[in-house]
Amino acid sequence: MEPLKIAILSRGPRLYSTKRLKEAVEARGHKATILNPLKFGMYVESGSPDLTYNGKNLSDYDAVIPRIGTSITFYGAAVVRQFEQMGVFCVNTADAITASRDKLYSMQALSRHKVGIASTAFVKNQKDTLRAIQAMGGAPVVIKLLSGTQGIGVILAETDKVAEAIIETLSSAQQNVLIQKFVSESKGRDIRAFVVGDKVVGAMRRVAAGTEFRSNVHRGGSTEIVELDEEYERTAVQAAQILNLKVAGVDMLEGKDGPVIMEVNSSPGLEGIEGATGIDIAGEIVKYIEQQIQFGNSDIHQRLRLTKGYSVVEFTVEANSELVGKAISTSGLRERDIVILRIRRGGEQIPNPKGSRELMSGDLLLCYGNQGALKSYLPTLVRKKRKKKVVKKTSSSEK
Ligand SMILES: Nc1ncnc2c1ncn2[C@@H]1O[C@H](COP(=O)(O)OP(=O)(O)O)[C@@H](O)[C@H]1O
Ligand SMILES: [Mg+2]
Repeated sequence: MEPLKIAILSRGPRLYSTKRLKEAVEARGHKATILNPLKFGMYVESGSPDLTYNGKNLSDYDAVIPRIGTSITFYGAAVVRQFEQMGVFCVNTADAITASRDKLYSMQALSRHKVGIASTAFVKNQKDTLRAIQAMGGAPVVIKLLSGTQGIGVILAETDKVAEAIIETLSSAQQNVLIQKFVSESKGRDIRAFVVGDKVVGAMRRVAAGTEFRSNVHRGGSTEIVELDEEYERTAVQAAQILNLKVAGVDMLEGKDGPVIMEVNSSPGLEGIEGATGIDIAGEIVKYIEQQIQFGNSDIHQRLRLTKGYSVVEFTVEANSELVGKAISTSGLRERDIVILRIRRGGEQIPNPKGSRELMSGDLLLCYGNQGALKSYLPTLVRKKRKKKVVKKTSSSEK
């Protein structure tokens, strides 16, 4: 293919990840330029969105690799969004980057799907605090600042009282905090799966130092290569897809019932993962860009969504579904205005499945079709039944 001009948006040209991305772009015969997101000017004009760099006109780029640090999420994402408006392919979109930075938002988005997440509560009112702590299983619980990173702002509270005090202190300092169930069985270890496109290109386990429960490398954690089993791999890819990230570092705890997603990073570092696995992860990212540009540089998902009343959704065939055991042609899906684009069955992918293909319980179907019809196949959200509490009448009732 023609050499591409690729912009790496990063404030740190000397950072390992930035250097490796530049190397990988050049190793595949393309041109890489490292640009500081804070040096862009955005000109928002109808029909002709534009960008300047360092006060000068910006030349044309084919693709952008955003490496937006957490301290400049707002400005950085705005620059990425501007590139998107100009039709430049961005590896991760501005919206996806912004969303992934908010631990609460990410958990909320993931919670609608059948993936394991750490149960999380978010409360503001002091009167809800104790209840939320107890709802997360009671102490020890994990308390997190909404936008912390590198393990800073993640606290393990040993007793309910301490948890309450920490939350109150942080709240009074205008900090938003999450309360999370402590997944003790993971014992200071977690899995980082590096997703590019729709596959895991490398994975490692991080092990916390000494008695520390946080496994972040910045907290002294060490890394080791790990062979992911299929469930972890599928969960990581699904998490990235739900958050619409094409490059993502998905962090999962090893819970007793399988993977527990804790966090999905949109600018995952390369040093740890390349060091632990010896895999050319930067090269995988560049290969992904080549593929996307060759195939027309378009987010098909978004295009398809533009037809009113139609959507692309993915759902699992439940064991009790009427679809189980039926061939696609006799399943009634086509009659209901639904086409199956791909089946994911165990570790296998079946693109454009034939009409004779039989559907099985557990199949993950990627479908395009009429929203009304699709809706009936989506999981119904189960509302938790709450025990009725006998509340003593007090004078100050809720308002
Ligand atoms: N609910 C939890 N149960 C057990 N360990 C946790 C939990 N949440 C976080 N940890 C540990 O703390 C580390 C940091 O938490 P994380 O949410 O990833 O914050 P950060 O963005 O600062 O990395 C994780 O890598 C993990 O080792
Ligand atoms: Mg983390």
